[in-house]
Amino acid sequence: NKRSKIKLLLESDKIGEQATIMGWVRTKRSNKSVSFIAVNDGSIINNYQVVADPNVINEDTLRRINTGACIKVTGKVVASQGSGQDSELVAESIEVLGEADAEKYPLQPKKHSMEFLRDIAHLRMRTNTFGAVFRVRHALAFAVHQYFNNKGFFYIHTPIITASDAEGAGETFKVTTLDLKNPPLTEEGNINYTEDFFERETNLTVSGQLEGELAAMALSEIYTFGPTFRAENSNTTRHLAEFWMIEPEMAFYDAEDNQDLAEDFLKSIISYAMENCKEDLMFLDKRAAEENAKKPVNERSEMGLLERLQFVVEHDFERLTYTEAIEILRNSKPNKKKKFKYLIEEWGADLQSEHERFLVEKHFKKPVILTDYPKEIKAFYMKQNEDGKTVAAMDILFPGIGEIVGGSQREESLEKLTARMDELKISQEELYWYLDTRRFGTTPHAGFGLGFERMVQFVTGMGNIRDVIAFPRTPGNAEF
Ligand code: 4AD
Ligand code: MG
Repeated sequence: NKRSKIKLLLESDKIGEQATIMGWVRTKRSNKSVSFIAVNDGSIINNYQVVADPNVINEDTLRRINTGACIKVTGKVVASQGSGQDSELVAESIEVLGEADAEKYPLQPKKHSMEFLRDIAHLRMRTNTFGAVFRVRHALAFAVHQYFNNKGFFYIHTPIITASDAEGAGETFKVTTLDLKNPPLTEEGNINYTEDFFERETNLTVSGQLEGELAAMALSEIYTFGPTFRAENSNTTRHLAEFWMIEPEMAFYDAEDNQDLAEDFLKSIISYAMENCKEDLMFLDKRAAEENAKKPVNERSEMGLLERLQFVVEHDFERLTYTEAIEILRNSKPNKKKKFKYLIEEWGADLQSEHERFLVEKHFKKPVILTDYPKEIKAFYMKQNEDGKTVAAMDILFPGIGEIVGGSQREESLEKLTARMDELKISQEELYWYLDTRRFGTTPHAGFGLGFERMVQFVTGMGNIRDVIAFPRTPGNAEF
C-alpha cells in the first residue's frame, strides 16, 4: 500500500513527486475544462485538492465522484495557488473505490445541526468538527498513558463486570443471563441468582477504584483507564450512561499529594493536546467562538477556547474547603438582585452546578479544587477528618464544565472504615476483599477519577458530552 496520508503530503515538500491518496470526497466543482475534488482521509482537518482534467480522467469516472464517495487518486504533486494550501494533486488516474448516491447521502456539503449529526452518529465522523474532536480525543488518551508511564505508574485493567457498587449510589446496570420473565426463585420468592452465570448478582462497574486500591497496595502507583457505567437518569450535557474514567491510585500519598498530582496531570495532558493538535484546535477555537456569539450575552464566556486552555495550564488552581466555599456562596449575589437561596442556612448540602459555575467562572475565574466535603454527601471509603463531620475529599471544578475530577484520600483505618460501612449499611462480608487491604499492611493512600469525556469537552469546547464520544449511551439511546 503506497498510499500517502494527506497529513504527510501537506506537511512535507513533495512537489514534483508522484503520490497516491485514498479518501472520501467532500465536494466536487466542475466546469468544462477541469474538476476540483476535495478529498479527506481523516488524517488532518484540511481537505486535499485533486485537479482532474476530463481529457485524462474519463467522463464516467468523473460522474461517479460525488460527495461521500471513496476514491483512490494517483498523480503528481504540484505547487498550488488556488487551494489555500501549498500543494495539490494533478490526477493521472482515479479509481472509485466506493460510490455514494448523492441524493441519499445524509451529509451534504453544508452546515448541519449537532442534533441532526447525533441522529447519524454512524456517519458524523466524516465531518470536519467530528474529525477534529476524535483526533483530539485520541491525543488526550495517548497523553494520559504517556504521563503516567513517565512517572512510573502501572496501567491496571480492572473488571467491567463486578459484584460491587463502588460509589454506593445504587446506579448500576445489572448483568444477567437469567430469563427475567421467568426467573428461578428462592424459597422466599426472590430471584435466585445462584443459578445465574456467575452464581451471584452482578452489574457493570461504576468505577475501577476499589480494585485499583488493591493494586496500589502492591504496586504503589497505578492507574486505570476504562469504561464505566451509570444508570443515572440525568439527561444533561455532562452525563453519559457509559463514559471513560481515568483513576490513578497511589500508596503513600496524602490528600495534598493527591491534589498536586491531579493538578499537574490535568495541565500536562491539556498542554500535550495544545502542542500536538494545533490545526484541529484552531478549527475548534473558531467554532467555539461562533457558538459563543449565539448565546445570550450573560452566558457568553469571556475567553476564547485556546485562550482558556492557555490560561488553565499557566495558573495555579484555587484550593479551598467546602466550608470556605459555602461562606463565599452565602455572601455572593450571582445576579444583581438576589443571593443564592439554597445553602444559606444549611451547611451539608451538596453543591449544585450553578454554585460550582459561580465559584469557577465568576468568583475565582479559574479551576478550583474543593476539599473536605461533609461526609454525608461523599462515598464510604473517604478518609474521615478529625472534626468528625468532613472527609478528605477533593472535587476539581473546571470553567464551562463543573466537576471534572472527584477523588480523596482513603480511610486506611480498618476500624473507622468498618464503622462507617455499618452506618451506611454496606456489607462488610461482601467487601471482605477490599477490607483485607486495611487488615494486612494498610497505609495512607489516595486517588482520583477524571471523567475523560468531560476533559475532551473542555479541550474541544464542545457543549454537549454526546458530541465527544463516538457512540454516546444516554437514556433511550443505544442504537449504534
Ligand atoms: O466523582 P465520581 O463519581 O468518583 C468516582 O467514581 C471515584 N471512584 C473516583 C476515584 O476517586 N477513583 O466520578 C469521577 C468523575 C467525575 O468527576 C466526572 O468527571 C466523571 O467521573 N463522571 C461522569 N462523566 C460522564 N457521565 C457521567 N454520568 C459521570 N459521572 C461521573
Ligand atoms: Mg463526584
